[in-house]
Amino acid sequence: MCTCHSELFAKRRRAFLEAVTARSRAVSDGDAVCVFPAAPVFTRNNDVEHDYRQDSDLFYLTGFNEPSTVLVMDGKSAGPDGAAEYRSTMFVRPRDADREIWDGPRFGVDGVKEHFGADEAFTIDKLADELPKLFQNKKRLYYRLGVNRSMDDKVLEAIDRTRARAKLGFTWPVEIVDPGTILHEMRLFKSKDDLDAMRKAADITAEAHIRAMGATKPGMHEFQVEAMLLETFRAHGSERAAYGSIVGSGANATILHYRQNNKKMEQGELLLIDAGAEYDYYAADVTRTFPVGAKFSKQQEAIYQLVLDAQEAGIAKTVKGSTLEQIHAECVNVITSGLVKLGLLQGEVEQLVKDEAYKPFFMHKTSHWLGMDVHDVGNYYLGGKARPLEPGMVLTVEPGIYIGKDYDKVPAEWRGIGVRIEDDILVTDGAPDNLTQAIPKTVAEVQRAPLA
Ligand code: GLY
Ligand code: MN
Ligand code: MN
Repeated sequence: MCTCHSELFAKRRRAFLEAVTARSRAVSDGDAVCVFPAAPVFTRNNDVEHDYRQDSDLFYLTGFNEPSTVLVMDGKSAGPDGAAEYRSTMFVRPRDADREIWDGPRFGVDGVKEHFGADEAFTIDKLADELPKLFQNKKRLYYRLGVNRSMDDKVLEAIDRTRARAKLGFTWPVEIVDPGTILHEMRLFKSKDDLDAMRKAADITAEAHIRAMGATKPGMHEFQVEAMLLETFRAHGSERAAYGSIVGSGANATILHYRQNNKKMEQGELLLIDAGAEYDYYAADVTRTFPVGAKFSKQQEAIYQLVLDAQEAGIAKTVKGSTLEQIHAECVNVITSGLVKLGLLQGEVEQLVKDEAYKPFFMHKTSHWLGMDVHDVGNYYLGGKARPLEPGMVLTVEPGIYIGKDYDKVPAEWRGIGVRIEDDILVTDGAPDNLTQAIPKTVAEVQRAPLA
């Protein structure tokens, strides 16, 4: 997103601060201040850095993608005249003609006031002096401790410096609250703007998967497929992959977080691709599995169809009022009863589910929130109970069956088969809205990959 979305970011900051001040008012005991630091820069080696991606919370509130930034926001509860006051202060890198020759332009203090809605701005070197002033007479500090230790130190030092001025009549923040309690609830419910970006990420991802499915042939390497995915993402304006792409053929498909992507693919193997584009800081997260240049073997097809049945049953349950636990339970039931029918598990389905007998085959959960982060923020439980789904939430439904190549509790012909199928589902007032529906997944469709 560019500065042309500045109204969107202002709206989000306002909604966040309204929620913060409403909470302060509810306990009628003073105002709050909120601090959001940028993601740190990680050195790759010597003077070379890893690609930079802004912290999702900071980006959600500002659209500002420069490192070495701190956003401080405060809100005063409505005064006698009824008007609440909201203020954003940004600490940013200074303009620097020399550095800008090497790294590109910076907005600097004037730029963030002009384009990013900062009411006040300072260069980042002023943080230690200015933060205690911003903390003065605030009761509560919204700051996520424990993520960025060097920032934690700066924040704690600022509290200490504010407290040291108590004898001059100032008060200081005596409570630290995780801003996620408000902000991550906001991020969990996708607005129309969020969904526009998510649909674009999903569409680009669909294009990439369809291309990969059509082009994969025996004799190619997994990395060639990965290259096609990344090329398609970038060619459509995606900033980057939303996570490291998994391209695993044969037994590699049974390794949940396989990342080497360097094996030559053979006729008759399955290829599992788990890859998604990021667009405007929103992620898609999709898995498809299909045969490499051939039709499914009998065993591969049986496992594939079973995972697909489970996934479709899970998606059907992705409706208002349902929970992630119920979606998972649905997939577990379908998979367990299917494994019994295939003779891969023996016993009574209900008891096998109770005993978690499916776990050697299906060892992960079915769903996670999806948004700016691939494993997105937002509580999964409320008051100790799985939270009911509500319209505007987006989650994945991604059951799988993985039979390791050395798993000797099943006959040899079943070993080395890994299948996962994953789509991105928007909860609505009615039927589930599958954002990644366009990517083929029936047995007939995925067997269309060209024969060698
Ligand atoms: N690609 C990560 C996941 O499916 O959760
Ligand atoms: Mn996922
Ligand atoms: Mn995935």
